[in-house]
Amino acid sequence: ALLNTCAIRESAQEKVWQRLQALARLKTEGRLRAIGLLGCMAQSLRRSLARRAPHVDLAAGPDSYRRLPRMLRSVLATSEPSHDFSLSRTETYSGIAPHRASPFNAWIAIMRGCDNMCSFCLVPFTRGRERSRDPDDVIEEARIAVERGIPQVTLLGQNVNSYHHDGTDFAALVDRMAGLPGLRRLRFTSPHPKDFPPRLLEVMARHGNVCKHIHLPLQAGSDGVLARMNRTYTGDDFLRLVNTIRETLPGVGLTTDVICGFCGESDDDFRRTVEILERVRFDSAFIFKYSQRPHTLAERRLKDDVPDTLKTERVVALNELQRMISQERNINEIGNVYDVLVEEPSRKDPSQWLGRTEHNKGVVFSAPAARPGDFVKVRVDDAGTNTLIGTVAETPTRIPAGQALVVSDLP
Ligand code: 5AD
Ligand code: SF4
Repeated sequence: ALLNTCAIRESAQEKVWQRLQALARLKTEGRLRAIGLLGCMAQSLRRSLARRAPHVDLAAGPDSYRRLPRMLRSVLATSEPSHDFSLSRTETYSGIAPHRASPFNAWIAIMRGCDNMCSFCLVPFTRGRERSRDPDDVIEEARIAVERGIPQVTLLGQNVNSYHHDGTDFAALVDRMAGLPGLRRLRFTSPHPKDFPPRLLEVMARHGNVCKHIHLPLQAGSDGVLARMNRTYTGDDFLRLVNTIRETLPGVGLTTDVICGFCGESDDDFRRTVEILERVRFDSAFIFKYSQRPHTLAERRLKDDVPDTLKTERVVALNELQRMISQERNINEIGNVYDVLVEEPSRKDPSQWLGRTEHNKGVVFSAPAARPGDFVKVRVDDAGTNTLIGTVAETPTRIPAGQALVVSDLP
């Protein structure tokens, strides 16, 4: 069994420990030959892994996947453990065609690593230095996905606005990608608020197939906390950026990440986060309790001094506030008609579909003839905090695989 892992927050890692225990039992019972631990948790724990997880036979960090077949063969042949934690300055997994399971979306990593050094963040230590993929390569991967009938591409990077490759910056990449025949929807995640390129907004406004949704991680409101986090923007910078975004892209969906209880966060600091959430009114927000991560600047230089109960209190308060805001914003959507991309059966009621508007709002509706990857016009009838409820306003359209549809706003 191979476990691909995340280590960004303590809670992510806890899940992996539980799974590892279950796998170790299977291995002792002889029902499993070997256990492999891949990704950021393996990378982060590399020094203590042999001691803390003796039943792991194979461990590989995020830049070692090209060596996986060889490592697997060696473990199975010799029963000797195999480890590889080298981080690369150049590896982008270019030329490896991913297996795509989703009928509606192709995730495409356009860069790896991060040079930002936000003080709470483990990524620079597990993913290594930032490097960007060749744009031709990225576009070719998208072209293959679109040819197979996948209508949406989501470009992925730790900080997409620092993408650059031989004179192509992120806005230029999005501009080129949006011109790909047959690509109905283009998304990306996540940009960093500190260097949000104005040209990207202009490109987003110009292309009908670039989804009007931006995930813009705030992390904290107070300037002191932001400075300690090494985010290099202030609360006011963030508010100004939101204004510019909303002026250029009216109706844009805005979502965010917030960390509660970072080192030295006082009641006043926290109130500023509340104030910014109230002023921006994001469509939704992921709210996290700060957890100290190994190797990070915060671990080495700052004190994790907000009591756990206070962190939890703040998370609960922010979640409550955001739930109210999301609910109000969703109620405002009632009556609107949207093109919805069908994703998967609704978890609550599998006879209904869950789809998404370009603003990244989930919509639940009934359309027995529709399939994941179809577009359906849906009218919003009702609103919950997390999803909209709608009815089909027009029959679904399906683009047969391989038949490229030319997007209407191309030159
Ligand atoms: N503690 C809590 N949340 C964290 N995140 C990253 N590192 C930490 C940490 N140490 C959150 C940030 C980031 C999201 C992916 O995870 O909000 O945007
Ligand atoms: Fe982590 Fe900051 Fe890089 Fe995001 S931008 S991956 S939070 S260091």
